[in-house]
Amino acid sequence: MCGIVGAVGAEIDLLATFEGLRRLEYRGYDSAGVAIIHDGELEVARASLARESMNQLAEWLAVQPYSTGQVMLGHTRWPTHGAPTLTNTHPHVDCTGDLAIVHNGIIENFRELKVGLVARGHRFRSDTDSEVIAHLLEEALASGQLPADALTEVFTQLNGHMAIVVASRAHPGLLLGVRRTSPLLAASAVDHFFFASDAPAFLSLADQFYEVPEDVVVVLGDSVEGDGGVRLAELEPLAIAWSSQDAVLDGYASFYEMELQQSPSAFYDTVAALMTTDHQAVVDQLSIDPYELQRIRKVVIIGCGTSYHAGLVGRYLIEHLARIPVEVDVASEYRYRDPILDADTLVVGISQSGESLETITALRECVASGARTIAITNVIGSQLSRVADGVLYTRAGPEISVASTKTHLAQVGALGMLAIYLGELKGVLYPDEASRRRQELIAMAELLRATLDRQSQWRAGIGDYLSREHFFFIGRNLLYPVAMEGALKMKELSYIAAEAYPAGELKHGPIAMLDEQAVVVALLGDDRLHEKMLGNIEEVRARGATILAVATDGDAGPDELADIVLRVPKSEALWSPLLMVLPLQVMAGWMAQARGYDLDKPRNLAKTVTVE
Ligand code: F6R
Repeated sequence: MCGIVGAVGAEIDLLATFEGLRRLEYRGYDSAGVAIIHDGELEVARASLARESMNQLAEWLAVQPYSTGQVMLGHTRWPTHGAPTLTNTHPHVDCTGDLAIVHNGIIENFRELKVGLVARGHRFRSDTDSEVIAHLLEEALASGQLPADALTEVFTQLNGHMAIVVASRAHPGLLLGVRRTSPLLAASAVDHFFFASDAPAFLSLADQFYEVPEDVVVVLGDSVEGDGGVRLAELEPLAIAWSSQDAVLDGYASFYEMELQQSPSAFYDTVAALMTTDHQAVVDQLSIDPYELQRIRKVVIIGCGTSYHAGLVGRYLIEHLARIPVEVDVASEYRYRDPILDADTLVVGISQSGESLETITALRECVASGARTIAITNVIGSQLSRVADGVLYTRAGPEISVASTKTHLAQVGALGMLAIYLGELKGVLYPDEASRRRQELIAMAELLRATLDRQSQWRAGIGDYLSREHFFFIGRNLLYPVAMEGALKMKELSYIAAEAYPAGELKHGPIAMLDEQAVVVALLGDDRLHEKMLGNIEEVRARGATILAVATDGDAGPDELADIVLRVPKSEALWSPLLMVLPLQVMAGWMAQARGYDLDKPRNLAKTVTVE
């Protein structure tokens, strides 16, 4: 949560740097601000008109008499401490007005630090935890320390997790960055240097990216002789495969719609990278000895939100294909469960961003208790990828929309590949069966494409229901997690009440809520539970609810029972969650558009959640 950028160099193009900040808006969009050093002056501009903040700042920049500067800091905020007001908006400055800082994360001991600073005469302008950094730095610099040394000293006083970038009027060619747990990348171009929370900020401006190591101050630009800190030349460049085009709206009205359309290629690229052309497993990044994996007796999958839902689908895949018992839990709950783990447990942490704090901390604890661990993540070099023994990367390209679409499909693809591999290692699948399963899985990419081609058919049926306010999603077996994902998408994009239940559970209580106003979205698989699902649909129909069925081609079962039927192609039942989720993602987008909501910036949300 919160996106930060910094740029330093001769003649920085301020608008281009600002566009970099705009690309991080998905990390928080409740307010935004910039600090610029030009002609020896430090100027700060802030905007707190929620989703309009960036536009306000762009307008402010456009009317300035200068278009270049030596330093620019930027921040886009999802508040943890202090309401999203103008005064709480970053960058924060010290009492002298010479220093500006931006911060992402939480400073847990800020209250005691603030009490001390106030007692020593500092005046605070905001309610944020972040402002203490500016004042502590002011003191450290006043005591005669050089900039990197001063930041190093201040950083050791801060508890919590954070990424900080600092600019100072006294050293206009210098930018300092430091982090603990929260992400921060450094980047370089011919004569400019950058810091950013995420690579999309500067894909079009920078040539090379570097990860800022934890707990050391990285110095960009004209470092001061004798000052501590690490220079870029001492860091390992990161292999970032994304291009600047990946993070640009390609004729679509929103990233949500664009990324949904990219699902087939995100899925294909993920799955194809994990198999050879003759459908054997490619597991070089797993870094766990196959003999160790053969010994695994339990799999635990953890994640949050959409990633958790992918994990729930993964449970069915692994239990079915590898016959290993699987537990799935939301990461924020798992670590407090006092889990029972040993070297025969494989823990899979799933996170698109690789940054969700709960997933990282839970996986860290699993590593400490001796379990084998794998990360499934979309971001190369992310925290999660470094915590785990091995990684399965989803290759979905940058996901900018706050609501996940394509990465969910890619996560399920990666879990499918893991399930097949474990099945093969365990001797549950013969090698030819494993290779047949891999062929089936990769062929799903074409079916995903064919499914997305049906949007106009779906739209024709669904139009009348877009204004309804109560939705229930029901499914059984591996379509139950799909129901959960459908309800989540609808809640987060349209802010309407959407609940998901295993279809058999409805009559144990929730059916009491059904009436003529309710719409029940019933996911009808082509499997042994088909008849039972039809029975459940009968039950809700008898209570007057509208029924919107999602069913496969040729399934006449819902024809007489449902008010509308959205069709998806027939597929192997095991892989049907991949297809069934698509109409739900599409429908959630339509619901939000019908209500006039911004698909890319649902209220109260941020793309990466780095607080517990
Ligand atoms: C919902 C959504 C969130 C994320 C969740 C985990 O559309 O995107 O529920 O799935 O915040 O994020 P990651 O996967 O980055 O750990």
